[in-house]
Amino acid sequence: MAEFTLPKNSKIRGKGAVHKVPAGAARVKAFKVYRYDPDSGENPRYDRFEINLDECGPMVLDALIKMKSEQDASLTFRRSCREGICGSCSMNINGKNGLACTTAIEDCKGEVQITPLPHMDVIKDLVPDFSHFYAQYSSIQPWLKTVTPPPSGKERLQSPDDRAKLDGLYECILCACCSTSCPSYWWNSDKFLGPAILLQAYRWLADSRDEMTGERLDELEDPFRLYRCHTIMNCANVCPKGLNPARAIGEIKKMVVERQL
Ligand code: SF4
Ligand code: F3S
Ligand code: FES
Repeated sequence: MAEFTLPKNSKIRGKGAVHKVPAGAARVKAFKVYRYDPDSGENPRYDRFEINLDECGPMVLDALIKMKSEQDASLTFRRSCREGICGSCSMNINGKNGLACTTAIEDCKGEVQITPLPHMDVIKDLVPDFSHFYAQYSSIQPWLKTVTPPPSGKERLQSPDDRAKLDGLYECILCACCSTSCPSYWWNSDKFLGPAILLQAYRWLADSRDEMTGERLDELEDPFRLYRCHTIMNCANVCPKGLNPARAIGEIKKMVVERQL
């Protein structure tokens, strides 16, 4: 494979690289981007990228794509939809978790610092390892579970009111911005399910068609899996879809108590 060479305006300075825009650009924005390549054996570093805003789309993801296309092809990040739907471009931007594709550059103050989601193992640059997160998602069995047969030849129907109970839950795109902003999840992610997975768990508990509510609550009623949430509320503060995982967690706790009455 051909070795990547830095473009004309790029230089290695200290431990990181500096990628400057050609002289004459009127609107320049600087980005400080976390770089880590486990294959290199070197420690992580920050690279500095300058972007000519007159030649760039409006979102942080546009800037990252421009950096990769024009300044350093080895820069690694996930993205797919560019519409805030797939959840793959979640990262930490100027200290707050969010989606690069829905975060406007003009809303980012000063030099924009971009790092991977906090407290996740890093595979490369801005790509965290979601294996544990997905294993936790799988553990809540996120599908409709029933014991009675469906009405012959018919779908399982749901009233508009029952369907409305899923609003604020089904929109979750599993970006993990909430879980990786939660201090309880940072320290106990081996056992605490975290806000994203608990919101998903409640999505099935709240579904009028699901018939395994008791078994689902049995699985969640545990000092760690559910009760490590201490209502810190970072999760609701960062969710790029405007969801409130803390409220969903509160509803699960209420269901656990109510079934004992
Ligand atoms: Fe992302 Fe919000 Fe779902 Fe959490 S609740 S995973 S922040 S969409
Ligand atoms: Fe964490 Fe949200 Fe609870 S930030 S502690 S899951 S309210
Ligand atoms: Fe799909 Fe950002 S690229 S949510």
